[in-house]
Parts: sequence; C-alpha cells; structure tokens
Amino acid sequence: MSKIGHHVLVFDSGVGGLSVVSEIRARLPQAFLSYVADDEFRPYGNKSEAQLRARLPELLASLTEMLNPDALVIACNTASTTALPSIRAAVGIPVIGVVPAIKPAAERSRTKAIGVLGTPGTVRRSYVDDLIADFAPDCQVLLKGSTRLVAEAEAKLAGRPVNLDVLREEIAPLFEGRIGADVDGVVLACTHFPLLRKELRSVVRQSVNWIDSGEAIARRLDDVLSDIPVRALPHHAQMAFLVGPDTDTVRAKAFSDYGFARTIGLLE
Ligand code: DGL
Repeated sequence: MSKIGHHVLVFDSGVGGLSVVSEIRARLPQAFLSYVADDEFRPYGNKSEAQLRARLPELLASLTEMLNPDALVIACNTASTTALPSIRAAVGIPVIGVVPAIKPAAERSRTKAIGVLGTPGTVRRSYVDDLIADFAPDCQVLLKGSTRLVAEAEAKLAGRPVNLDVLREEIAPLFEGRIGADVDGVVLACTHFPLLRKELRSVVRQSVNWIDSGEAIARRLDDVLSDIPVRALPHHAQMAFLVGPDTDTVRAKAFSDYGFARTIGLLE
C-alpha cells in the first residue's frame, strides 16, 4: 500500500535550503519532502534580477509538473525577494517564500543596531529596504552581501573544512565603527548562512543573536498544508535532485543526513 501524506518541494540554489528542511522536519515530521538544488546556476546572489526572473518561473513550473508536490517552498532569500510573484503565477500550487527576519531582529534588539547578512543580490533589493522602513525604523542597520559565505557553506556540506579567515573578513563590516560595536543581532538573510552558525559565532567576540527565517517558514507551511487534503505519496518523495552533473557522494551523504534517501542528478 502506498503511503499517505503531504508532499512538499523545497527549492534553493544549493544546500542552503537544508537549513529550512531542519525546521520543517521539526514542525511537520509527518510531511514528505523532495528537494531541488539549482547547482547549475549557483550562486544566485551575483545574478541580476532579470537573469533570475528569466530562469526561475519556467524552471519551477517544470519541476512542479514533474514532481507534483502539494506545496512549494522557495528556501532562498535571493529568489524570494526577486521573483516570488512570477514564480507564483507560473505554478499551480501554494508557494511559500522566505522573508528576511528583519522584523524579529529589530524587535529583539536592545541596542537598536542590527546587521543584515545576505547575498549581494538580496541586500540590494528594494524589498529589503521596504522591510527595514516598515519594521526597523528605530534601528541602525548595517548591510553586508557575500557570495564567499555561500561557497563556504557548500564546502562544509561537501565535507571540506570551513575557512574561518574568510568568515572573519566577510562579516567584519557588520561590526565596524560606532554602530558596528553596538550590533546585537544579525539577520541571516541567506538560507546557506544558518549552516555556518556555529562557525560564525566562533569568529565574533561581541554577543550577537543570529536570526534566520527557517522556523517562520515551517509555521507558514503548517498553516498552508492544513487546508490541503493528504493523498497517496509519489515514489520520489524524500529524494533530492541536483540540477547539473554533480552527484558527489559526500554531498549525497549530506542530503541523506537531512532525510533524503537518494540524491539524483538532473540534467536540464
Ligand atoms: N541560499 C540562497 C539565499 O537564501 C542563495 C545563495 C546563492 O546562490 O547565492 O539567498
């Protein structure tokens, strides 16, 4: 007999969405997940809005048609802050995106000085300016975009050591000057970065809350799924698909650590 449940597709440019998968599995242990990493086009953070808008709706329309999930989680800040409306228009199922956690970071900050650490694309988006204006008007906000940290998170999950000097250099601008000395909260506005939380903590001397959106996404997904009837699950639920030729066994091991039974290369 086939299993019954909800089937959710989690999407990111790479392994970053696994930080969201942890939160989804903690809140919805009965949900079945598929995962797609767009290895071929990573990093998203240095692509233009036009490039992402040209690629993502079409790619996600064909992935959702192929995998037939009940809901789609865009576990990527760069894609969410750039192309969510056009992705929603292209797929016929509920889509949950990531909103950088600026509101909770502003609420929790005592010093009213916070940092936003995202990809270069995300920290440039007017979407982020609007979140700051709406939810952190009383805060001084330092922004930093980094693609090197995305590469470090990918390296970590491919079994390579994290270069702490790179982490130090990349986050230094968030702790510089009078405002930087006061920063007591950093928004991890890229889903890759919670995978480096332990290492980030180890290279910063001041006491900082590192705040991401994973739990909020899981909560939203829970709400959305409560309106969708369960059904027989397809055989590919609990598999990870990588767009491109990479089927590196160490990386496949990382996906299996997050509950994905098989990792399969998906050539476009
Ligand atoms: N994990 C992604 C994000 O949340 C994108 C990383 C990248 O490909 O640049 O923004």
